[in-house]
Amino acid sequence: MKQIDVCFTPDLLHLHTVENTIVVVADVFRATSCMVTAFAYGVNSITPVATIDECRLLQERGYLAAAERNARKVEGFELDNSPFTYMDDRIRGANVAMTTTNGTLAITKSRSAVKVLVGSFLNLDAIVRFLKTERYDVMVLCAGWKGRVNLEDTLFAGALVERLKDSYAMAEDSAIMAWRLYAQGKDNLISYMANASHIRRLQRLGIQKDIAYCLQHDLYDVIPVLRGNALVSMEV
Ligand code: MLT
Repeated sequence: MKQIDVCFTPDLLHLHTVENTIVVVADVFRATSCMVTAFAYGVNSITPVATIDECRLLQERGYLAAAERNARKVEGFELDNSPFTYMDDRIRGANVAMTTTNGTLAITKSRSAVKVLVGSFLNLDAIVRFLKTERYDVMVLCAGWKGRVNLEDTLFAGALVERLKDSYAMAEDSAIMAWRLYAQGKDNLISYMANASHIRRLQRLGIQKDIAYCLQHDLYDVIPVLRGNALVSMEV
């Protein structure tokens, strides 16, 4: 039977197997929700980079550039990290370069996987349908926050385990933990996460509407997949 594993933070990635595995990277608040939305609204590609300098270089080469640090837009870049920013005509057909505090770093660290997919609650069902057709083991890489574990990405991992549990064995306790957490919280994720640290961070910045948006399940059928250095859309 195929296995599903969960890595709670990129700082623990060295303990997990990426080779011969499909990695689903999740940064629910907000990088991967933002990427999924961008593809749903017609972006052509997103090149995730780890640093602001790399993002600036791509901007100079003509990319629309998005840079976020500590949940704020970095000065000098066109786009931020809110899904609502990408519901815009200038996004259609654009090649975007993006750097975020945790999400893009997690993607760049997963490069040696068989495939790197971008996951969020927004495209959960699309990811599930795709994975069921694949023969590889799966690992969910939670982007976390600066090396720390967070609730929202762990809940996403649990949701994926929940929907795949008939076709994948849970590799280790991290998958069981994520699954049990999701089972506890799934009926009202917003109240379950009321004190989560990134929710408090976003609320302090007045970014409430992104929270409810990013927790919606199964809105889009797109799956961003890493091809070379860029994410492109794989319709399922
Ligand atoms: C990240 O990559 O850490 C996040 O997307 C932060 C944010 O909410 O802007």
